[in-house]
Amino acid sequence: MKSAVGISSIGVHVPEMYISVEELARLRQVDPAKYVTGLGCNKIALCSSKDDIAELALEAAKRALSRWDGNISDIGLLAVGTESGLDMSRPLSAWIAEKLNLQGNVRSYEVKHACYGGTLATRQAVEWKLAGMGKNKVALIIAADISLYAEGDPGEPTEGAGAIALIIGEPRIAQIDPMSFPYSKPVFDFWRPIGQQFPSVQGGLSLECYIEAVKSCFADLTAGRNLEQVLNQFNAMCFHTPFAKMVKKAFFALCHEHGWDDALIEKIYQQKIDPTMEWNRETGNSYTASLWMAVARALCGLAIGERVAAFSYGSGCGAELLTLQAGPDALQGAWREDILRDLASRREINAEDYKKLRARV
Ligand code: COA
Repeated sequence: MKSAVGISSIGVHVPEMYISVEELARLRQVDPAKYVTGLGCNKIALCSSKDDIAELALEAAKRALSRWDGNISDIGLLAVGTESGLDMSRPLSAWIAEKLNLQGNVRSYEVKHACYGGTLATRQAVEWKLAGMGKNKVALIIAADISLYAEGDPGEPTEGAGAIALIIGEPRIAQIDPMSFPYSKPVFDFWRPIGQQFPSVQGGLSLECYIEAVKSCFADLTAGRNLEQVLNQFNAMCFHTPFAKMVKKAFFALCHEHGWDDALIEKIYQQKIDPTMEWNRETGNSYTASLWMAVARALCGLAIGERVAAFSYGSGCGAELLTLQAGPDALQGAWREDILRDLASRREINAEDYKKLRARV
């Protein structure tokens, strides 16, 4: 019988600056309520000029490794999910491997599928372990992104940044169930052609595809059973979070399809979904890291066997619903200290500094 596979260690990193969406609204002469209430945004994490995507990803990896009792030579797979890569050919993982002095019999690569890349890398690591390929080895998976739109773009309040690293091996923190529920459909809802600095977005289409994907993945999970009974199994439900309102709209659309009334949907949303986005509210959209920030938050403090659902979405589009079960190290939630430390030391910038920062990008 195959032994269970899952998350052995987590490292989280948030960059050193942020701007509040109220301050951005002042700059763009927009009613701040649009960003705060209309979209559910709070803060936008920003990188300084010395912090690039490789540094962000590396720091998350170092933190995951620092809390793990293995050796660098135990890593047999290194994959980075990102849409902020530094090169069309050289994988971002090569920058990380260089700094970690990781080479030899290691599969090292980058995964790109918009915000879904981190989940794909994680699933590949789980399947690599389950297939027996990574017998006595672990995988180091990193999801890291810097999300910026053209200045004044409607997507600007949803900007953000962050990185999360997962060591996939023994399920000390959480078991990732072998079965998952994917969905894909070729569309242009959000894309960035080669040479184009900032993304193009069809916001309405993106929301439509996200909702369609949520409905399809949850239909596969429930497989004809009662949705409420199925969702009751989960202590928390995490979603890819471009902005909180998108998650809320999708959850309402899913439950309306099953005939739920708004009061019940709101109750479940407040109990099981809204609290998982605590760290997303501090980072803004960190693309590939976004879902895993929510999962990392949700796992903190869970008892062994308590369950989490995780819905990943990437434009283009591809989605996958994963289910996890907390392991013995979830209760302590040691990785929470990463984010608390970063948030305590980061600096708030004003609109004028933001303008200067954007002029340098
Ligand atoms: N006070 C309170 N709410 C307000 C408001 C105000 N003064 N002004 C507007 N709003 C609300 C709107 O009613 C709307 O809420 P609703 O959707 O519940 O009706 C919300 O704010 C957004 O307004 P809208 O006019 O639709 O925003 P927009 O056209 O400027 O688009 C985004 C903004 C972020 C929705 C859009 O750019 C987008 O979808 N971007 C990216 C999506 C994405 O990241 N996709 C890829 C990954 S999944």
